[in-house]
Amino acid sequence: MTLTINRTYPIDITKAAVSHISSVNFDELQFGKVFTDHMFEADYLDGKWTNCAIKPLAKIELHPATSALHYGQAVFEGMKAFKTTDGRPMLFRPDANLARLNESCVRMAMPEIPEELFMDALHSLVRLDQDWIPDTEDGSLYIRPFVFATDDFVGIKPSDTFKFVIFCCPVARYYAKPVRVYMQQEFIRAFPGGTGGVKAAGNYGATMMPLMHARKMGFDQMLWIDGVTHNRLQEIGTMNVFVQIDDTVITIPTTEGTILKGITRDSCLQLLRDNGFKVEERDVTIEELIDAHRSGRLHDAFGTGTAATVAPIGVIGYKDQEYTLPPVEDRKVSNWLKKELWSLRKGLRPDTYGWMQEI
Ligand SMILES: Cc1ncc(COP(=O)(O)O)c(C=O)c1O
Repeated sequence: MTLTINRTYPIDITKAAVSHISSVNFDELQFGKVFTDHMFEADYLDGKWTNCAIKPLAKIELHPATSALHYGQAVFEGMKAFKTTDGRPMLFRPDANLARLNESCVRMAMPEIPEELFMDALHSLVRLDQDWIPDTEDGSLYIRPFVFATDDFVGIKPSDTFKFVIFCCPVARYYAKPVRVYMQQEFIRAFPGGTGGVKAAGNYGATMMPLMHARKMGFDQMLWIDGVTHNRLQEIGTMNVFVQIDDTVITIPTTEGTILKGITRDSCLQLLRDNGFKVEERDVTIEELIDAHRSGRLHDAFGTGTAATVAPIGVIGYKDQEYTLPPVEDRKVSNWLKKELWSLRKGLRPDTYGWMQEI
């Protein structure tokens, strides 16, 4: 069946003949490996977004000279839809993801996505695939919007044509255990003036080799250190980092442009500040972190991100030492944040911030 929504960016909708939802075991979802029935696709041609379509999920055919594959003009987002306990499908802060996507597009010389196009595409796609939003305790629908350069051209110049795509994955909990992170000073993720502050695909490509080494040593993720002083914490692979030293909750400032402005980070900061926690946005050095651990003042450390929400850090590795953090059940801040965000997303706590958007 083909339907057209008549707006500035009309979307042709072709529904899948058969849903494959009944073949999926929602109790054993592996993150990022299961995909819903449909996807959204649009093209940027002659200076405007066109060919907007929702269709059955399928491979994208590309010319071998597609410029994103060679020169990395590609950006993406990660966001989630949840089902409240009374069964309403809701998006969490989609306006914040759109703002960040457009910030990424501007930095990478790519066209911005108009709000109407983004919201129509997102709502139409998630509405169509809403049965895929797990209503399990930890389940949600992970949504991946992305934009990439499509000129068939060999040579360094900004592309004139682009594709904007959205697909979705039903997901469960990201980390089953506290995260083991590793700090080192040799490989650097982001520098001032670079692209660390936006979600450019290449930022992640450059982290794979150090990450592979850290995984061989038994760690889950890198805790990146800055490339100017080689001493200041930046962020974890796909999460911002928070530490609690004494009674102060500290997270790293994003003003240098080297750290992604996490939407979960911002949500946690607002919740903490509005509920009387002592909060600081400031740099933390490796020495301060290790000193706080040695003197028993490092009470909590956790990562925040869309995929993992609030993930307690179990161990911080540095050189040949492992610094083990207090048991998860003793963590006041991360446990409180996790519960607050969960209650909000499940509709069990009033949405005083207007973060949840009904589909
Ligand atoms: C590098 C990096 N830092 C932090 C985050 C957390 O951002 P958010 O809370 O918006 O998911 C992400 C995930 O998007 C990320 O990729």
